[in-house]
Amino acid sequence: MAEKKQRTIGVLTSGGDAPGMNAAIRAVVRSALTKGMKVYGIRRGYNGLLDGDMYDMGIRSVSEIIHRGGTILYTARSAEFNTPEGVQEARKMCERKGIQGLVTIGGDGTFRGARDLCEAGVPCIGIPGTIDNDISCSEYTIGFDTALNTAMQMVDKLRDTAMSHDRCSVVEVMGRHAGYMALNIGVACGALAIVVPEKPLDFEREIVEKMFYTQSTGKRHFIIVVAEGCAGGANDLAKKITEATGIEARATILGHVQRGGSPTLRDRVTATEMGFRAVDLLEAGVGNRVVVVKNGLITDIGITEGLEMSKQIDFDLLNMSEKISI
Ligand code: F6P
Repeated sequence: MAEKKQRTIGVLTSGGDAPGMNAAIRAVVRSALTKGMKVYGIRRGYNGLLDGDMYDMGIRSVSEIIHRGGTILYTARSAEFNTPEGVQEARKMCERKGIQGLVTIGGDGTFRGARDLCEAGVPCIGIPGTIDNDISCSEYTIGFDTALNTAMQMVDKLRDTAMSHDRCSVVEVMGRHAGYMALNIGVACGALAIVVPEKPLDFEREIVEKMFYTQSTGKRHFIIVVAEGCAGGANDLAKKITEATGIEARATILGHVQRGGSPTLRDRVTATEMGFRAVDLLEAGVGNRVVVVKNGLITDIGITEGLEMSKQIDFDLLNMSEKISI
């Protein structure tokens, strides 16, 4: 039996925003319109779906956005949608608007919502968009590269002042429960120590002894990158370092600056490819899939399977950094 084609689709962004989401929206909209589909842009994630807050998008609705951070569709985390009743309400809204398929751009929470909606009868395709790169089924998530580069530039600036004052700069980066951001930023900035949730910190050996040792070889300033939620965060860690070593430490929490800014080339290209593939899947009548990067290539896998997968930070990279940051 031929699969039913999706002629009217919706697109939404949900969860934390990420640079490159706009490039993905652009690809979804343009590719769908080219295939003769109608596209609704749904505002503020699943909240907009529940409220019917959506608009008909044309090819010019997505002009001048490929280089812009944030999301023109706005985003939210919807508590109301995350209930069986919420999912049924969303399904009814799709019926009312004639939406036969949905592209949802976001993180794990977004995909859980998409899975539930699929089970309720609305085919959904997920696109991984989060600066954290913590979607297990994909090697890469839209926004990661931009956030890393933003953070790297900030840490470079902190290095200047840490050097002038012979200080230790303790920088807290985002990442939710994962150390992908901290690890890559730490390596790129030559951090003396990188503190990630995946590995318990040996404060004496990895920080105190290392600072004293490197000091004895002439080092006078230090960068330490800590993932949010680890070691009590940058403030606690900086205080502890000063108490243990006598070296003046300053804490900086980079915060939401990491989520903004114009997406890098990698994020724009990946977002474009992912958006295009998502529409191809819906056009073919396929739902309940996440578009992912696997072995460096764009492909897709089942949402449920994807949500059950796990991935790890690159411990070899962490060990290498520990060895050469001396
Ligand atoms: O998932 C992206 C992220 O920026 C995480 O790194 C961070 O833990 C969280 O979102 C912050 O969320 P909020 O914007 O709600 O403060």
